[in-house]
Amino acid sequence: MTGLSETINNEEIRRIYGENTRTYEMILRIYKILGVRLSKWRAQAFEHLPVLSNPRILDVACGTGANFDYLTEKYPDFQEIVGIDYTPQMLARAKKRINENDWDGINLKLIDAKKMTSVLKGKFDLVVSTYSLSIIPNSPVVLKEINKILRDKGFVMLLDCQKFEGFLRIFNPIAIFLSKKLGGNEETYSVPVREIASEIFNPIHGRLLYSGLFYECVFRKRSSRK
Ligand SMILES: C[S@@+](CC[C@H](N)C(=O)[O-])C[C@H]1O[C@@H](n2cnc3c(N)ncnc32)[C@H](O)[C@@H]1O
Repeated sequence: MTGLSETINNEEIRRIYGENTRTYEMILRIYKILGVRLSKWRAQAFEHLPVLSNPRILDVACGTGANFDYLTEKYPDFQEIVGIDYTPQMLARAKKRINENDWDGINLKLIDAKKMTSVLKGKFDLVVSTYSLSIIPNSPVVLKEINKILRDKGFVMLLDCQKFEGFLRIFNPIAIFLSKKLGGNEETYSVPVREIASEIFNPIHGRLLYSGLFYECVFRKRSSRK
């Protein structure tokens, strides 16, 4: 999908995450009441990442930089961490976090994840994206961009939500309603991101959370050399 509808969605994203953060915070509170443990799953996802020496890391749709604590702890010798996001206010909060922690080598860029390879230079050893692809229109384009920007055999970690399967499907209207408040919609939410990612990359770890409404997975780029 390109053109007007995507532009409108991008503007909606900026409104939700930039101007109207109260809705975002309210949804996070509802999730918490429902037993959705976003922070706990984030911490666990980083535990499942491989040991890497001096990695260059990309955080796609980094938001306020909630992943930076985990990345700097797991990879204290990181070469560079680049955080990209489409909402200026989210990046401003990420910048504040960087300054408060005195982190050197974390750089931020205001760009649409679907166009990142036209702006970012060089390859990355690890790309992470948390709680974001389910609200980005045409997320398979982002997966292709990640594949382009990863070095051979580089790693990708995705943590996000998806539709329920099986008998729990009856709860999907509620899940989609909440997703809409976060900038997603029926279409973005229905993209089988894990399956598409498994076609592009080699899956090396994966698990479902909250009876399958959330997932965490790690992939590895296929080597281009035979
Ligand atoms: C739910 S927040 C998650 C932020 C962060 N990854 C985290 O785990 O806390 C979703 C983020 O995706 C960003 N976003 C949405 N569409 C985007 C796009 N096309 N390109 C880059 N960032 C985007 C929003 O600005 C927002 O910061």
